[in-house]
Amino acid sequence: MDTIKLQITQDNIEKAGQIIRDGGLVAFPTETVYGLGADATNAEAVQAIYDAKGRPSDNPMIVHIAEMGQLPELVKDGHIPDRAERLMDEFWPGPITFVLPKSDKVPEITTGGLDTVAVRMPSGEVARRLIKAAERPLAAPSANLSGRPSPTTAPDVLEDMDGRIDAVMMGDTCDVGIESTVVDLSRDVPTVLRPGYITAEALSEKLGSEVIYDSSLYGSDAMEVDVDQPKSPGMKYRHYSPHAEVKVIQGDSEVVSAKIIGMKAIAESEGKRVGIIDYGSDNVKAAHDFFAELRELDRKGTDLILVAALSNEGLGFSVMNRIVRAAGYDIIKA
Ligand code: TXA
Ligand code: MG
Repeated sequence: MDTIKLQITQDNIEKAGQIIRDGGLVAFPTETVYGLGADATNAEAVQAIYDAKGRPSDNPMIVHIAEMGQLPELVKDGHIPDRAERLMDEFWPGPITFVLPKSDKVPEITTGGLDTVAVRMPSGEVARRLIKAAERPLAAPSANLSGRPSPTTAPDVLEDMDGRIDAVMMGDTCDVGIESTVVDLSRDVPTVLRPGYITAEALSEKLGSEVIYDSSLYGSDAMEVDVDQPKSPGMKYRHYSPHAEVKVIQGDSEVVSAKIIGMKAIAESEGKRVGIIDYGSDNVKAAHDFFAELRELDRKGTDLILVAALSNEGLGFSVMNRIVRAAGYDIIKA
């Protein structure tokens, strides 16, 4: 298959909308990461996403909308719970996804057989224009091959998807750089299943009540994922893996720097090519750059990537969730 590269013009956005209506696959930028979009209500088109990504079909997709009018038909009885409405009001359009009981209009394949649906209204302009042009909600996982780092630039999408999908919208680098916060509102206590730019603290402040991080996201075995009972099915799979080996070094910043320099010297003496990723305390930059940097180091033929841990607070916690997964939970205390 020839993948069409579409520059961002209104004509091309309409062309992409037509491809989606015809059941095709179009990768497009959002404010978080690039998504691989298809008509969320077309089971065959959604199956094609799983095939293009090599994604296990019990891992559900996020359904993207451009306006509130598209929401009622996706959720059970068209019902938007009060607290959902308050959070959507505050944080949409933006980098956050809400899980709610689903309506019958959403095909089972879109939700991986779950009776809930994950919905997001992105703020990225190209994403919003594309959803409108397609005239239907878009199922869109991140536009990477399953297991690889999420793409945050159009060339990174092409690295994985060229020849596998119908088109790519050649947009800009994504602002946020990590995927949306996923919060489950189908439970008694709103629960963050995947941390992102918008933190549980921010949600809790808006609601004036408790919002928790799912227990699988932290604790002494933070990194142990219950493979049989994952809350967010995506969490049980291998994630964000570059070709290089990745190790995380955690501790006081000076000690970490010294440890990294020592480890680098040893690895280089063994003939390895070593890359270092250290954002200091700049969590926003860390979110923005981390996935892109993994891919860049891979292109350079790096064998070993040493990453300085971020603090486990706020956005740092969200980026650490990606860092430790990329490292396969290989964490060294400095
Ligand atoms: O920022 C994002 O969310 C990006 C852009 C393209 O919007 N999309 C994205 O999709 O990251 P994906 O498929 O790579 O990740 C979706 C996550 C997975 O961890 C999945 O298990 C979870 O959301 N998820 C989807 N539907 C769910 C549901 N009904 N219940 C619980 N978790 C769900
Ligand atoms: Mg993904």
